[in-house]
Amino acid sequence: MKKKKKLYEGKAKIIFATEEKNLVIQHFKDDATAFNNQKKSVIDGKGILNNRISEHILNNLGQIGIKNHLVKRLNMREQLVHHVKIIPIEFIVRNIATGSLTKRLGIEDGSVLERPLIEYCLKNDELGDPIVSREHILTFNWLNIVELDWISKELLRINDFLQGMFRGIGIKLVDFKVEFGKTNENKIILADEISPDTCRLWDSSTEKKLDKDRFRQNLGNLVEAYQEVARRLGILHLESNIRPIKFSKPTAVKLKKNK
Ligand code: TMP
Ligand code: ASP
Repeated sequence: MKKKKKLYEGKAKIIFATEEKNLVIQHFKDDATAFNNQKKSVIDGKGILNNRISEHILNNLGQIGIKNHLVKRLNMREQLVHHVKIIPIEFIVRNIATGSLTKRLGIEDGSVLERPLIEYCLKNDELGDPIVSREHILTFNWLNIVELDWISKELLRINDFLQGMFRGIGIKLVDFKVEFGKTNENKIILADEISPDTCRLWDSSTEKKLDKDRFRQNLGNLVEAYQEVARRLGILHLESNIRPIKFSKPTAVKLKKNK
């Protein structure tokens, strides 16, 4: 599939057109940002890991009937995906309270929620991705009620599947963010990426952070943490030329020291 002109550049990914109107190429950059772009860095190898991890997760979700934009991974940094118009809402699902939830509501960090909590944020960096209610979404016609209810059910299915998948490899799925888009046929499908950039993942026994909080909180060893996730998912061995890779025990020891 030939790569054509750049259609859109976001903080962590670039979208390119292809010869096919309904298909685009999603390129994963090494850029890391947090707090709505206020903190920025380039982390060698992050894009490659996210490409591979997101491919694995979206493929697995596809197998349980969660329709998503992934067609196939093309190379180390790129995926062929269905062209969608992204719905301007970030859908967040939480199983354990942390991050903005604890700051906003004074809930104790680490509290296990009785049931998954869904939150909606408007996707607008200038406004700081403000949290919005279902009523806002309906009032401003970002989605209609049928679409919103359908997405909410889909979110719980995604959460169930991901929780089980991560539990099986000794990781707690604390929370995650997903995005949906509308295809040219006006069908809603899961889009964007699911990776340690967009999930909070804690090692089940030590609660070590294996996600982008390592960057947000200056904990270091981000690539090593993402590699650990990929290794446990059983996909890292396929990428023998990701740099810098250290599967060795010292990496694991380093991670433990740096909670
Ligand atoms: P929060 O606690 O900062 O609101 O984040 C909740 C989850 O959503 C967490 O897994 C990180 C993810 N997230 C993103 O992927 N992109 C974002 O822009 C934000 C704010 C959060
Ligand atoms: N993705 C957002 C940003 O780049 C926020 C975050 O992930 O913390 O600023």
